[in-house]
Amino acid sequence: MKKLFIAVSFLSILFCGCNKNSSWQSFSKDKTIEQKVDSVLALMTLDEKIAQMTQFASNGEIITGPASESDVARYLREGTIGSVFNTVTVENNRTVQDAAMQNSRLKIPVLIGFDVIHGFRTIFPMPLAESCSWDLDLMRKTANIAAQEASSVGIHWTFAPMVDIARDARWGRVMEGAGEDPYLGSLIAQARVKGFQGESWESLKETNTILACAKHFAAYGAAEAGRDYNVAELSERTLHEIYLPPYKAANEAGVATYMTAFNEIGGVPCTGSKYLFTDLLRKDWGFGGFAVSDHTAVKELIAHGVAKDEKEAAALAVNAGVDMDMADGVYIENLKKAVEEGLVSESVIDNSVRRILEMKFILGLFDDPYRYLSEEREKSTLLKPEFLETARDAVRKSVVLLKNDNSYFPLDKNKGQTVALIGPMVKNQRSLNGEWAGRGNRNESVSLFDGLMEKYKDSKIRFVYAEGCDLITNDRSKFMQALSVARQADIILVAMGEDFNWSGEAACRTDIRLPGAQQELLKELKKLNKKVGLVLFNGRPLDLSWEHENIDAILEAWYPGTMAGHGVADVIAGDYNPSAKLTISFPRNVGQVPIYYNHKNTGRPVDPANPKVDYRSFYLDVDNSPLYSFGYGLSYTSFSINNLKLDKTSMTKGGSIVVTADVTNTGKYDGAEVVQLYIHDITASVTRPVKELKGFEKVSLKAGETKQVKFEVSEKNLMFYDLNMNYTAEPGAFKLWVASSSADETNEADFELE
Ligand code: GLC
Repeated sequence: MKKLFIAVSFLSILFCGCNKNSSWQSFSKDKTIEQKVDSVLALMTLDEKIAQMTQFASNGEIITGPASESDVARYLREGTIGSVFNTVTVENNRTVQDAAMQNSRLKIPVLIGFDVIHGFRTIFPMPLAESCSWDLDLMRKTANIAAQEASSVGIHWTFAPMVDIARDARWGRVMEGAGEDPYLGSLIAQARVKGFQGESWESLKETNTILACAKHFAAYGAAEAGRDYNVAELSERTLHEIYLPPYKAANEAGVATYMTAFNEIGGVPCTGSKYLFTDLLRKDWGFGGFAVSDHTAVKELIAHGVAKDEKEAAALAVNAGVDMDMADGVYIENLKKAVEEGLVSESVIDNSVRRILEMKFILGLFDDPYRYLSEEREKSTLLKPEFLETARDAVRKSVVLLKNDNSYFPLDKNKGQTVALIGPMVKNQRSLNGEWAGRGNRNESVSLFDGLMEKYKDSKIRFVYAEGCDLITNDRSKFMQALSVARQADIILVAMGEDFNWSGEAACRTDIRLPGAQQELLKELKKLNKKVGLVLFNGRPLDLSWEHENIDAILEAWYPGTMAGHGVADVIAGDYNPSAKLTISFPRNVGQVPIYYNHKNTGRPVDPANPKVDYRSFYLDVDNSPLYSFGYGLSYTSFSINNLKLDKTSMTKGGSIVVTADVTNTGKYDGAEVVQLYIHDITASVTRPVKELKGFEKVSLKAGETKQVKFEVSEKNLMFYDLNMNYTAEPGAFKLWVASSSADETNEADFELE
């Protein structure tokens, strides 16, 4: 029936008596998408074109920004809307499509978007957590599962991956990205884009893939003082060396859309930046999809002070190359006037509409606007057992073991002892999915308590429990009860962290210690002179200096999602040997922030042999180094890296050097080590970072086993933006390390580029 309906509707286009040139070309399959797009465009009035460039949030289902009184219902009735977001059920998405199909003149299908950031219904560990797995296949797989679930309810487009490099733990959105490194961030961006979209745009016509969106373009993570939406003041070189690579990599992976960043860069708000959205993205990078503003970001050009009213804001954004306006209605209410007054050429409008229509054709929506909608598919797809198993595996691989003195972990099932489970995150479920929880059911996420009860149900361990405090306030009224429970136990296992609203958008903090009374409770528990382990559920690097000095073991579990309790219990029990490594530095305290491993040397670097010699670049109160470095993470076993070799020490132009090393599991547990390759350009036409990640390999090793890792270093790995901003490699001396973290310089070698 639907097929017939669609045929009828297109026939109505053919004979709609349009007041436009109705030289409609048939939809015969041999027409190219471009020809079909032009055929539709030729029928459209200016109002209808501008409608295609308009996106509104559905009314009230899910709110992800300042509530905008968008009359989406009216626009849907009139059929004058190109896209809707935040509708997350088959029923509501069918209603949206029906509105366009039944009410609009041209019956152009509506594009439906949603923030499928780390899962749709099956919620995976937050993106920063997953990045600590250094497992690109896993990250592609979880994105693919998210696409399968989201598309099953009629969602065509996700506003992900967020690829913003972040070096500042005060910024709440560090939890959404892949950490501080451009090289790793670029590879992860590509894995996630392909997970959502498939291998190419060709695979977008499958109904289990969705458009991806590289966001937030650009340098949103460079917000000054770590305060969300704040200005990004950075050099052109830092922009190109550090912040742009993951966005560029996303384009190389075929990302279909980009989203503007709220911030300005050096005085130019991204949403009005022709340099970003036309010169760089389209002319230099050859991007062929479309760009959407972030939530009300077009209107915000007025607050930024670069547009005096909405008409100017609309003109600035669309002339910059921002094709679609999210949530504020500025395009649909102002662009026609802007065209009539000559502020915007209709050809600019046509280009934007072409890009949007092309995606709708590629998705197959013109063939069948309802092709993604199926109650049966929704029911059979969401929360599939194999999806939940993947989620549990992702949790295991995202948990970072930060400290493990006295072999506190794993907790041996066969060791008869009483363990006191203390803290607000022992039984908490609502925070486990983090802020961007899609359509995940917060009450479904497996708590640590439930995971441990399941894991240890036949063990010799007896658990006792007390909450002790909450995640936010300074209420100490439950301390006494917690201490009383802890006194009954042989050891104490504490679970603490951040409420899910304490990391994420508009969730920035100037104090990055455990919130509320949590650290106070830890200090009271410490006084009992029992071994204490700490499991953390949080979205950002925390200041754990006190914990590191006083707690025996620390496990960073982040916001692990639906299978939190089971995955973390797998690690606690030793059924999975932790293998994750940090992709973002943990500062000793907030005074060090921003802090990152690929920093510059300065003219007065600290001499490690004489760290306090005067007139050097150091702090009086803490060491320059982070508490936990980029690339750091412990295991229940131990590894050694030896026998570093280079097949040559001089690289010719266009040549390469083969680097090998042996990695040995020197402990008693099977495990996996992420072996990292770092390179330093010692002297160049501009200052270079003290080291940069240029390769890694995650190696699984049985206890006692040795394997060789091999890296091929080529000129490409040595390229940077020179004094004249040319991307090139310069001859000279280099150092490299094959290491277990960015702080490990045990295995060092020198080479030169001729
Ligand atoms: C929010 C976020 C953006 C998200 C959008 C739609 O403001 O900045 O990442 O995709 O609105 O929800």
